[in-house]
Amino acid sequence: MTNGANNRGFWGSRMGFILAASGSAVGLGNIWKFPYIVGQNGGGAFVLVYLACIALVGLPIMLSEFTLGRKTGLNPVGAFQTLRPNTPWVGIGFMGVFAGFLILSFYGVVGGWTLAYVVNSITQSVSHFSSSQEAGQFFGNFITNTWEVLFYHTLFMGLCMAIVIRGVHGGIEKACNILMPALVVMLLLLMVRSLTLPGAMEGVRFYLYPDFSKITPQVVLLAMGQAFFSLSLGMGAMITYGSYLSARENLTSATLYVVLFDTLIALLMGMVIFPAVFAVGLEPTEGPSLVFNVLPTVFSNMPFGAGVSVLFFALLAIAAITSGISLLEAVVAYFIDQRGWTRKQAVLVMGSVIYLLGVPSGLSFGVLADFKLMGMTFFDVVDNVASNYLLPLGGMLTAIFVGWVWGTREAHREIERYETKFHWGAYWEFVLRYVAPVAVALVFLAKFFPE
Ligand code: PHE
Repeated sequence: MTNGANNRGFWGSRMGFILAASGSAVGLGNIWKFPYIVGQNGGGAFVLVYLACIALVGLPIMLSEFTLGRKTGLNPVGAFQTLRPNTPWVGIGFMGVFAGFLILSFYGVVGGWTLAYVVNSITQSVSHFSSSQEAGQFFGNFITNTWEVLFYHTLFMGLCMAIVIRGVHGGIEKACNILMPALVVMLLLLMVRSLTLPGAMEGVRFYLYPDFSKITPQVVLLAMGQAFFSLSLGMGAMITYGSYLSARENLTSATLYVVLFDTLIALLMGMVIFPAVFAVGLEPTEGPSLVFNVLPTVFSNMPFGAGVSVLFFALLAIAAITSGISLLEAVVAYFIDQRGWTRKQAVLVMGSVIYLLGVPSGLSFGVLADFKLMGMTFFDVVDNVASNYLLPLGGMLTAIFVGWVWGTREAHREIERYETKFHWGAYWEFVLRYVAPVAVALVFLAKFFPE
């Protein structure tokens, strides 16, 4: 059943779409993941590789996904099926839905952590640490506590499901309208605080000074995976969001806006975290706990720290929810459009399956810490498979599909349907057809055949 865009809902306004797509892009990827991956992979040089991936791979693919979505008015599977019926290309869509499953399962866990820190901030238990060790101990106790982790994981998934059940216009769009501007103001404030801490400059140097000896194929793969993850690309979330777009919207400026905004938030977050990491005497390499150890230490030693802590973690939790709902929406849209399920059915069934898949990820820091697959915890395996392999692969195939199979001429026609001028059309076509697919392929090759 492919019943087009009718009875599926639309965005209320142009700004609503941009905010919702930014809401999908901006999330834990920018605020939690970006700083710790930069920290683990050598700082400045990683940031440069990341920016190159955004401009050469992320940007063209985002416009392609929006275009596929608006053209077909369908979910990832339906989009490819409509344009090239009964060909293997529809596999990109299935892979995307599967990636959405995997990503949301661990995303919900970390989303739960942020909710826990909202509550802990309100009860003031994370804004009175005397040292970063104390903050670290608190976080360590929390993520190893099975019931607490599961409670907040449940809460996070429940919130996402409650919003997605209401549909795109009522739920998703409204949630993003206030959050995005508030988040920027918050990060700017925190950046000033971090930069004025004693010893901050060492962090600035780590973050901005590129040491190219740190770059290996593995590091480039991680930077590319992070670019896909942060921009919500390669799994069809942006196809799905594009499908709720009416034809009169300007896709090219929406793309630029979302990419710039997402990148700005990630870069800002680096400027918040690294000066503080060095100022409070932590190691930038400590991994997923980085933000949760550094910021509470900073909040504990600043005026109004308790209030700032509540605000910061609340904004982070909302940012995580607006991304979580886009992951869920892409999966749900497939079951609604292609399988004829009702929205409620799709949300309840798929939300629950994803939730259950998240449980072992949630326990990966506690009771399942010693359960290793290929030397990694369950959490790391799911994250790694989805972010570093499925997303780049899905993105590469999407680029090939739009660049060569469906074709840039058709895509141009869709993009320019109502648009006055597509200023960077030539750039788009070039990077989409040649640079993006080759870049992803080379990175995979370099990773698997390092000689
Ligand atoms: N972009 C989101 C973030 O940075 C995560 C996400 C990935 C959302 C893939 C949708 C699809 O947090």
